Amino acid sequence: MKMLFKKLSLIFPILLLSFIVNCQDLNHSFKPGQIWPDTEGKHINAHGGGIIFYNDTYYWFGEYRLVRSDKDRSHYGVSCYSSKDLLNWKNEGLALKVINDTTSILSPGCVIERPKVLFNKKTGKFVLWFHHELKGQGYKAALTGVAVSDNITGPYKYIRSLRPNANVWPLNFPEEYKKATVKEGDLKSWSDEWKVAVREGLFVRRDFTGGQMARDMTLFVDKDGKAYHIHSAEENMTLHFSELTDDYLDFTGNYIRVLPGESNEAPALFFNKGKYFMFTSGTTGWKPNPARLSVSKKLSGEWSSPGNPCRGTEEENKITFGSQSTHILAVQGKKDAFIYMGDRWTPDNLADSRHIWLPIEWEKGNPVIKWYPNWNLNKL
Ligand code: GAL
Repeated sequence: MKMLFKKLSLIFPILLLSFIVNCQDLNHSFKPGQIWPDTEGKHINAHGGGIIFYNDTYYWFGEYRLVRSDKDRSHYGVSCYSSKDLLNWKNEGLALKVINDTTSILSPGCVIERPKVLFNKKTGKFVLWFHHELKGQGYKAALTGVAVSDNITGPYKYIRSLRPNANVWPLNFPEEYKKATVKEGDLKSWSDEWKVAVREGLFVRRDFTGGQMARDMTLFVDKDGKAYHIHSAEENMTLHFSELTDDYLDFTGNYIRVLPGESNEAPALFFNKGKYFMFTSGTTGWKPNPARLSVSKKLSGEWSSPGNPCRGTEEENKITFGSQSTHILAVQGKKDAFIYMGDRWTPDNLADSRHIWLPIEWEKGNPVIKWYPNWNLNKL
């Protein structure tokens, strides 16, 4: 008996200590803008990312960035993290790796941004799309890349990169725009005539044969299971909603122009109570600008713009609380519960960029975001 007590008195403090250490390691709330430690204590390196829910688990895919950034270039690829509670994330390693072969267009030094993953019920495969720029060419190529995997965490097999919708007109492109003859060289950039010409399809015509530009992007699956690749096209002036084939690996050629000439980037969409909502940013590179909200009853319909969804100080609203949208996350098991996910970029050290997650709140039927330095899911 004495021995047992002696043993217990030794074991108990050890158990208590490990309990305390474990509790300290866990994240209990969202702290936007702060370092967000994964289960190994390292800041989550998944930027410009998106999340899918599969088999009772959330999977977060994002840009895996160098600790000291080499400007915009990618040296690793796409990371994947998993979580059951949205607060504590396990690093699942690289889902898609750059290819260590200088003849590959996916070799280190290319640009891999804003990766998003979908699960395809018909094929049972996971499909990853990402914005892809070629090494040494800045953001000129404006390609979208696709990779596929049998396992959610990867490894994803790179298939190809392309400019979508070559040789097809957008579904909502009037006949007279197709025939217009005004050329880029005839107009002074950013003049009023140039802006009208852009709205009336200047760049759609220019890129008709080579395929439309695809930079900032997201993926969206509609209620009927059809998936769309949504991307900044036309020199980032217009968004294109491009329908994907049933296996999600290619484009059908059905696409529409959305908010032509309005310079939207960083699209993030969700559907709730009969309406589609889209968060976007303006086009100021890594610097934050005022977020924009657009609303439509139909994905292919007219989008109205109720304005800036931020409800902070004037300064905070001008910079979306120091963030740029990347995804709107639907919280499982809770009705009408969504989280705004944004990036607070640190261009000189992209790995240190902070995650700005804020609860979506509602005002007159529209989503709005407010700043909370420390919050949890009870807020939703
Ligand atoms: C932003 C874009 C980012 C990245 C950056 C590069 O506008 O949203 O994903 O491409 O420009 O400057």
